[in-house]
Amino acid sequence: MSDLLAAYQNRLEIALAACLPPAGERLADAMRYATLGGGKRLRAALVYATADDFAVPLDAVDAAACALEALHAYSLIHDDLPAMDDDDLRRGRPSTHKAFDEATAILAGDALNTLAFQLLATSPLLPAAQIAQVRILANAAGWRGMVGGQMRDIIATGSRLTLDELQAVHAGKTGALIRAALHCGAIPAANYDENRPALDALGTALGIAYQIADDILDATADSVTLGKTAGKDSVQGKNTYPALLGLGTARAAFMTYSEQTRAAATRLPDGAPHLRALLAIIDGRKN
Ligand code: IPE
Ligand code: IPE
Ligand code: MG
Ligand code: MG
Ligand code: MG
Repeated sequence: MSDLLAAYQNRLEIALAACLPPAGERLADAMRYATLGGGKRLRAALVYATADDFAVPLDAVDAAACALEALHAYSLIHDDLPAMDDDDLRRGRPSTHKAFDEATAILAGDALNTLAFQLLATSPLLPAAQIAQVRILANAAGWRGMVGGQMRDIIATGSRLTLDELQAVHAGKTGALIRAALHCGAIPAANYDENRPALDALGTALGIAYQIADDILDATADSVTLGKTAGKDSVQGKNTYPALLGLGTARAAFMTYSEQTRAAATRLPDGAPHLRALLAIIDGRKN
């Protein structure tokens, strides 16, 4: 079944390379460095799997898959900056601010952020669907979503959140983009509207499960496997599921959310076989 993920990854790599600026100038080189040749591409895969399950041709959502990965790459560049998580390793290589410099990393992130919306606004979809995708991604990326979650994460570092507060951090910094990926894949379909609640339920549960797994991996895996510095969350006093609840309870929470994703998937058209296959792959991830 990982053939499915490999096919989505290959598709994404080709589409993304084509929509980035050509190599040769510093900003373009940093944008390409941060986006190409690494990353599991799970947000793009979620766009494609949802499109497959809603009988939307994948050509119609290449732009959305690239937009999600461009926006995600921007979030990682900024997340690694010294002012944030101060992380020198990303996807098995020096972080963008290490490979280039901080100013270039900030600007490459900014440019990837705007590129994401340019891609959505110039896709082959009808204007109504383009606008729906732009609205979904803007909402997910901004102060209500990813950026808002990152802010809460930073403010809370070194102090202890309640479980509800931690859920809100995870839902924002990680869950919002994951939920947006599902919506973007289904928006072109005629039966999108009636499936929005199930997509939301799936995205919400998957977003939290995904960040719990990231937290558990930070505490249990090694840097080579992760491609990023292991064990940093506890050194930095980050609020994570293992820190708040212990590893065993964090794992149990992961299972609970993971079960919710499968339950939500069964409410989607034909039980969403592509998404369910992808969920199984995501469940078993080692990095
Ligand atoms: C890392 O995301 C940051 C989180 C939101 C957990 P991924 O684990 O999906 O990172 P890549 O894209 O595969 O590098
Ligand atoms: C970051 O969460 C989520 C983002 C919005 C980038 P983390 O800080 O835990 O992600 P990693 O572990 O650095 O990939
Ligand atoms: Mg962070
Ligand atoms: Mg980080
Ligand atoms: Mg992490």
